[in-house]
Amino acid sequence: MKNMVASSLTGIQVLKVLVVLTLFISSPEQVSGGNVLMNAVLGEGSHFYCMAAIGESLVRWNHSVTMLISNAFEHRAKDEKYSRLFNFEVFNHTVPVEEVHHQFDAFNRRAFSSATMQLLTLLEIMKDGRAVDCDNILGDQRFMKHLKDSSYDILVYDVIWFCGPLIARSLGIPYLTSISFPSPCTYGSTNLRDGSMNPSYVPEVFTGFTNRMTFGQRILNFLQTFLIEFVAYDMMKPYDVLIKKHGVTKDNIKDVLSQNELFLVNTDFAHEFPCPLHPKIKPVGGLTTRPSSPLPPELEDFMESSGDYGVVICTTGTYFTDVPINIVKAFSEAFARLPQKVIWQLTAELEDIPDNVKVLPWVPQNDLLGHPKTKVLMYQGGNNGFFEAIYHAVPLVTFPIHADQYDVGARVEAKDIGRNIDKRTISADVLLEALQDVISNNSYREAMQRVSAIFHDRPEPPADRAAFWVQHAMKYGGHYMHSPSYEMNFIQRNLIDVYLFIGSFLFAVCWLLYRVLNALFKFCFVRTTQHTKSE
Ligand SMILES: *[C@@H]1O[C@H](CO)[C@@H](O)[C@H](O)[C@H]1NC(C)=O
Ligand SMILES: *[C@@H]1O[C@H](CO)[C@@H](O)[C@H](O)[C@H]1NC(C)=O
Ligand SMILES: *[C@@H]1O[C@H](CO)[C@@H](O)[C@H](O)[C@H]1NC(C)=O
Repeated sequence: MKNMVASSLTGIQVLKVLVVLTLFISSPEQVSGGNVLMNAVLGEGSHFYCMAAIGESLVRWNHSVTMLISNAFEHRAKDEKYSRLFNFEVFNHTVPVEEVHHQFDAFNRRAFSSATMQLLTLLEIMKDGRAVDCDNILGDQRFMKHLKDSSYDILVYDVIWFCGPLIARSLGIPYLTSISFPSPCTYGSTNLRDGSMNPSYVPEVFTGFTNRMTFGQRILNFLQTFLIEFVAYDMMKPYDVLIKKHGVTKDNIKDVLSQNELFLVNTDFAHEFPCPLHPKIKPVGGLTTRPSSPLPPELEDFMESSGDYGVVICTTGTYFTDVPINIVKAFSEAFARLPQKVIWQLTAELEDIPDNVKVLPWVPQNDLLGHPKTKVLMYQGGNNGFFEAIYHAVPLVTFPIHADQYDVGARVEAKDIGRNIDKRTISADVLLEALQDVISNNSYREAMQRVSAIFHDRPEPPADRAAFWVQHAMKYGGHYMHSPSYEMNFIQRNLIDVYLFIGSFLFAVCWLLYRVLNALFKFCFVRTTQHTKSE
């Protein structure tokens, strides 16, 4: 029977059936033509790339995606890579775009200051400047009406700018949070107040701690939870003012943020420290990972010329443009002493470049990582780069500079997939020792291959998983997974009232028992003594 059917089909028909079947199997049930609005801060850097990756999957599934960006990063809308996929809505800053770029450059200028100082810089950039932008958008009735007329189904926003939920509330649509830094159990669970964030074994963001903390680290980790709460609280304040001013909703910003549909977190338990997750938190780590493409001939020749020694890739990302010259010299000196060739992405001017080093202002990092000659990636520890290295199973040397990079460094060391260098100790010797160790000791590569294999052993690519959840939220929302923990007060949530009640009860019972026994004892004792006396 089967044979008869098969033979009666022509090759083309079989092909058609196969194509239809593959389409059917590989894409989940469609909510036909959803209309998604996405906002990744202003449209800059790694936050934008994560959002664009989710958007790309949604577009592939026949949804329409619109990116809300600022005129400071308007070049995205003109980039053919994005303009063929997405629509763009561009809002204008009240200040010249140069000033906005200058604000973001504050990160670079604080590259070698302390983590707390950097956190305050983030606060400075995200709080006042971005609240003004938000005020501007909400107050621009023509623009808001234009957004309303586009009838979006859902808004996906990046966690570090709270304007998205306010826009969504004004438009009367649901919203979903994307978190581009690691640590699934910290921000989301703090936001939902579900009690799963336990600082005894869950390292708080930006600490650079692993999940095995010393007593001192646990104290600092515990205190960091309050610092993060404080920073979040301080960042939220201006948005309560905006809610009132524009009559967005009756809720305060904290409630608005917790009433999202879902959290998409750019992390994966292939390397992430285990922790219990609220069902509204979905790990979608590795959004920007993809297979590598062939290199341009000039780079390919350079890679091949390295022979058996292979190549070291060194990149410094978007936020590392103002490097102190002594640091640059330390890198250069370390590279000169290596037998390997080095591809170094660096925007700073440099004299005396060693013969084995190729300096470029921009490199195709993903394609280089996929090349068989690549031995190690040395970089500052950004979360997207981390996943690209895991995807291609390339061991790492990290030198964290900012925020979540400290956390990536901690994971690199804890999983033995490379070495992590404290930026305050950077010297040619330190860099060289770490590089030689990772290149010569095969255990790092083997550990990385295992993490990579686990990362790949998933039913779908991360961006598709994220897009699936956006689509799911469009169909059913995420509120069915909302727990009442958020509405409880501190005393109820932590069972303090229950402990107090049971404690008092036990105390009362003990006290009663004591009185009874005491009375009994006295009674017997007195009787016995009387008895003895009378004898
Ligand atoms: C894609 O969406 C459009 C509406 O935006 C609809 O007309 C079309 O039928 C959809 N195609 C598929 C394959 O779902
Ligand atoms: C932003 O400014 C440009 C140029 O002045 C203008 O064409 C555009 O309409 C403005 N956008 C909004 C949303 O007001
Ligand atoms: C290689 O690195 C691993 C993990 O850091 C270490 O346990 C081992 O002793 C190293 N081996 C050599 C030969 O250095």
